[in-house]
Amino acid sequence: MGITDDLFDISGKTAVVTGGSSGIGLMIATGFIESGARVIISSRKADVCAQVADELNALAAESGRFTDLEQRPAAIALPADLSTEGACAELARQVMEVTGGRLDILVNNAGATWGAPFDDHDDAAWNRVMDLNVKGVFHLTRFLHGALRAAATPEDPARVINIGSVDGIHVPTLETYSYTAAKAAVHQVTRAMAKRLGPEHITVNAIAPGPFQSRMMRATLEVAGDAIAASIPLRRIGSDSDMAGAAIFLASRAGAYVNAAIIPVDGGMVGTL
Ligand SMILES: NC(=O)c1ccc[n+]([C@@H]2O[C@H](COP(=O)([O-])OP(=O)(O)OC[C@H]3O[C@@H](n4cnc5c(N)ncnc54)[C@H](OP(=O)(O)O)[C@@H]3O)[C@@H](O)[C@H]2O)c1
Repeated sequence: MGITDDLFDISGKTAVVTGGSSGIGLMIATGFIESGARVIISSRKADVCAQVADELNALAAESGRFTDLEQRPAAIALPADLSTEGACAELARQVMEVTGGRLDILVNNAGATWGAPFDDHDDAAWNRVMDLNVKGVFHLTRFLHGALRAAATPEDPARVINIGSVDGIHVPTLETYSYTAAKAAVHQVTRAMAKRLGPEHITVNAIAPGPFQSRMMRATLEVAGDAIAASIPLRRIGSDSDMAGAAIFLASRAGAYVNAAIIPVDGGMVGTL
């Protein structure tokens, strides 16, 4: 095999993308489907999750990348609220059932933010954000450990891709104390899990996105989108293909030796602080 043969090929792989029904998770799920990988998307709203899975299946049919869609759909919706340990365990059980206990890629993307002035940043602001953004990432990875290990080989490791944030690297402008702390925690737990799981041929990396269009960012980008874009060295916000590209790199042979990395995908925002 030549050095570049199939370098970015992820066809035939199966991925779980949490929060795959919207924003960054949907950008990644769409990129995976267009590349011939199967996806299981999971988020709270079952109807939205099912509708997005239908749309991804239509895309898969159009793409011509799948030859067995009549036997097996390319996208499956498994709704869950991933802010509790029990729900993470239950989703993992369902994933094992659907995949036969073998999972190539886990994208821990589901996340929430909370903005409130310093004096009002109460326990609710901490619990909601930490439970989903940090504990959810850790527990789901833990419960899917066996399935990832079953898919992993030294040449083609299983991949865990956590979605952190530039807000876990710099200090954000908005008063989002629990969110900035949670995202720094995601980056650190990524490195800790990479050390533990690397010897089992499972890579664990984080993407730290800058601003991307999503439900979470809609209000911020409506009010300050132009100013935010102007503050970034590349003078724009991120596109769907910017995000899909980073995830496909990490999921493919091209990214097989990348482990414990926190990769900003932000047009140079935090690299030029
Ligand atoms: N957009 C950006 O500029 C940006 C920048 C840096 C980092 N990020 C990170 O990117 C990730 C995705 O955010 P986004 O911007 O794409 O926001 P989004 O459009 O609001 O998407 C969030 C996704 O997570 C799901 N979700 C929320 N709470 C959940 C829960 N308790 N259990 C399971 N799923 C849940 C949502 O679906 P339901 O509501 O149906 O559950 C949705 O699918 C987050 O981790 C965020 O911190 C985003």
